[in-house]
Amino acid sequence: MSNDDLGVMQKIVSLCKRRGFLFQSSEIYGGMNGCWDYGPLGVELKRNVKEAWWADMVTHHDDISTPEGASEAFEMTGLDCSILMHPQVWKCSGHHDLFHDMMVDCKESKRRYRHDQVRGRWALRGDDRIFVTAVCEPDEEHEVLTARAQKYFGLRAKDRDQISWDGVVVSLESVSDFSEVFGPDAKEPGTLTEPREFNLMFKTHMGALLDEASVAYLRPETAQGIFVNFKNVVDSSRVRIPFGIAQIGKSFRNEITPRNFTFRVREFEQMEVEFFCHPDSSHHWYGYWRDRRMKWYQELGLSGDNLILREHDADELSHYSTGTADIEYAFPFLPKGEFGELEGIAHRGDFDLRSHMEGKLNPASRPLEVELGEDGKPVHRGSGKDLSYRDPVTNEKYIPHVIEPSAGADRAALAFLCEAYTEDMAPDENGKMQGRVVLKFHPRIAPIKAAVFPLVKKDGMPECAQEIYRDLKRDLPVFYDNKGAVGRRYRRMDEAGTPYCLTIDGQTLEDGTVTLRERDSMEQTRLPVDEAAQAIREAVRS
Ligand code: GAP
Repeated sequence: MSNDDLGVMQKIVSLCKRRGFLFQSSEIYGGMNGCWDYGPLGVELKRNVKEAWWADMVTHHDDISTPEGASEAFEMTGLDCSILMHPQVWKCSGHHDLFHDMMVDCKESKRRYRHDQVRGRWALRGDDRIFVTAVCEPDEEHEVLTARAQKYFGLRAKDRDQISWDGVVVSLESVSDFSEVFGPDAKEPGTLTEPREFNLMFKTHMGALLDEASVAYLRPETAQGIFVNFKNVVDSSRVRIPFGIAQIGKSFRNEITPRNFTFRVREFEQMEVEFFCHPDSSHHWYGYWRDRRMKWYQELGLSGDNLILREHDADELSHYSTGTADIEYAFPFLPKGEFGELEGIAHRGDFDLRSHMEGKLNPASRPLEVELGEDGKPVHRGSGKDLSYRDPVTNEKYIPHVIEPSAGADRAALAFLCEAYTEDMAPDENGKMQGRVVLKFHPRIAPIKAAVFPLVKKDGMPECAQEIYRDLKRDLPVFYDNKGAVGRRYRRMDEAGTPYCLTIDGQTLEDGTVTLRERDSMEQTRLPVDEAAQAIREAVRS
């Protein structure tokens, strides 16, 4: 899919609702911003993405051979940690003090915006000059800013040509005097406050008392559950460094402006690996994971120019990171040439284990002062537990370094959806060429793997088709459809991204062969039913 046509995103969003991939959360009550529900097809798609990740990272990982690009064999294991964790975890991880976005409030409209997402342009009329602002999609920016300037100058639509512009559209971050700013929803200029920090963690209370002592947070990342269990895993299993611990689970961030469908949401799922290694080999493992993770997306269908690997500049690095690369995708809601993050691969050094152990933030990643409480002790006190590792062969004791490939399951599912969306032409049942919408998912992540159709509802065909359906259903998600012309049934399955359709006709009853129709090429092949089933199973495993 090319992102030349920004309208394509609207088509994908509408297909997702129409075919049951995604619904707005609590839609009947007007919706809940930043939250989405996966429908019958969407839940299968996202489960397949997570299962492909877990299988490739953990279950099918070969612990005894050296993978291509790696210097030695290593083990991979998993965890499933609680969402609510001890508040001290977030102090030592840095999230309590550093996990924030800058926001501005509008004193008049009472709206809150992310500072970097308010964009605007200097508008002029005679001697009057104002910085008009908006928070909207890039393709709407010119229209919205012109309407705001028109409102500020009190002009009618037909007098818009009295407005002239100074410079291009820039972020509010480049403006220092807010008295000259006309807020995105304000009636007067100068209503925006100075930028302030806004912590992104969702706060709640544990137990019956709603006081400071009962404050808890919904985890903003799954990673910390892995770090605080590092010792438990080493002591309870026979893993030896280097090894990785994987986790898939929900994370929560109180994003100021959730946007772009499921790209930036407040409740989402992460798929994270923390890979523990010796400090001396950490750069090797960083390169290994960066390349392996890029290949994973390519093998599942995100290839070509839509996918890039981007190394961060030093000033972009998180507070803990000494090196990070992002895997980014050209989502169609972004302007041409821009990419959105799917996954970050970070070299986290020993920051997390050391912080949970000693209770101070690692000065090697960013100099930070240790905050002291009323008792004079560090507020960021660690667990006091020894989280270092002793190598059973060399007897060397050290704090392992960590490489973290951290992916979002919702963003990956969205990228696979966008990449799969295709409009092409196909003959209808009368041989006339008609437009068709097809989701060209890799068979591994397609929600339904095959559909079974009896050609007509008589002559024993439904019975035969149902038997084939039940047999396939034992190990594959299969759909049975006997309604309407076969051509229309194919099209319904194309829109759902189903890679294969099996049609049962009179000949099936005589010689046991079926017509196997392939979604992308639309090629139809006559095969014995066992061979058709085998072809589907092999494609799903590939
Ligand atoms: N443990 C490191 C970490 O959490 P991150 O870059 O903040 O790093 C990792 O998040 C991934 O989680 C991102 O690459 C993205 O895929 C996903 N993610 C983060 N915030 C998200 C949000 N608000 N909505 C959807 N996905 C999000």
